[in-house]
Amino acid sequence: MTTAPSVILHSRPTVGSDELLALTTVIGSGHLAQGPRVEEFEQGMAALLGLAGGVAVSSGTAALEVALKSLGVAPGDEVILPSYVCAAPWLAVVRVGALPKIVDIEPDSYAIDPAEARKALSSRTSAIIVPHLFGLPADLTALQSLGVPLIEDCAQTLGATEAGRPVGTVGAVTVCSFYATKLLCTGEGGMVLSNDRSLLERARALREYDEEPVLDDRAFNYKMTDLQAALGLSQLRRFPSFLERRSAIAATYRKAFASMSLGLPIIPPGRSHRYYRFVVRLPREAGSVASVIARLEQRGVQCRAPVFRPLHRYRDLAGYPVTEEAVAQALSLPIYPSMTEEEVTRTIQMVSEELSR
Ligand SMILES: Cc1ncc(COP(=O)(O)O)c(C=O)c1O
Repeated sequence: MTTAPSVILHSRPTVGSDELLALTTVIGSGHLAQGPRVEEFEQGMAALLGLAGGVAVSSGTAALEVALKSLGVAPGDEVILPSYVCAAPWLAVVRVGALPKIVDIEPDSYAIDPAEARKALSSRTSAIIVPHLFGLPADLTALQSLGVPLIEDCAQTLGATEAGRPVGTVGAVTVCSFYATKLLCTGEGGMVLSNDRSLLERARALREYDEEPVLDDRAFNYKMTDLQAALGLSQLRRFPSFLERRSAIAATYRKAFASMSLGLPIIPPGRSHRYYRFVVRLPREAGSVASVIARLEQRGVQCRAPVFRPLHRYRDLAGYPVTEEAVAQALSLPIYPSMTEEEVTRTIQMVSEELSR
């Protein structure tokens, strides 16, 4: 009897014996909540990014909220963000009582369009949230010239560069997510990083409610545990090999799909890609993104729309043609370090067969 090959998941954490040992060690230590491993993980992430420090929190969404508060964004302020992103940045802005100003994206990088951000500027603009999507940096140079503090959202991109500068090192503050399927994972988790030590102090104070000289009602319990941080430290040690594997899979995909009518990821000049996602553009004749996902699922390959629903649609806002085009065409293929060669080959075969009919 032959068994059917297993479904190739769109995403999967890359964890193994290193992570198991790290968790066992923390359990053995008896210190499960925020402690020495969290501090070590903060230092490790700050070193990875070349920044002065980091404050670990419970999620990327919490990191965005703490970053906004630490920057001094207050009720009535406006914060600019792109439509083509998950709901987390919008929720964080609303949480601090600020007004989200949703703008369109660049077609090639899927990141916030600096020209659209410029149009949305007002005297009340206090920050721009800049998600670097799919492993590719936004146009930081153009965004920086707008003269508003940037919050770099590195939830999907670490280790890539724009104009020779690593992502996460340009804005006033940077946030990361360590959700289970991110570039580095702790199950759930996030971090606020910066070169500004007083901003980091404010973030540290906002992360917890206890042992603070004054009762700041913007604070909460956003803490990360030592269990999560131990996972993160193992992942950090393996990070260079993770990036190598992602690049290798991306190179194999590029070669295999070169002669097809799929639009392959475009890397604008001066930027580098770390392939958190391998997002292709479907040709019109392929049918809708949803129908391609369903057809590939039947062939045992899980693909996804890279963004579930753009923010302007939640708010019933008109316009956003570049985002709409991305929604209509963009498809995310499986890519992660633990993908086997057999899974990569099978993905190529199924995508090629399905889309060249
Ligand atoms: C760009 C971006 N920002 C923020 C977040 C929120 O991170 P978390 O899920 O850890 O709260 C995500 C999560 O997927 C994300 O992709």
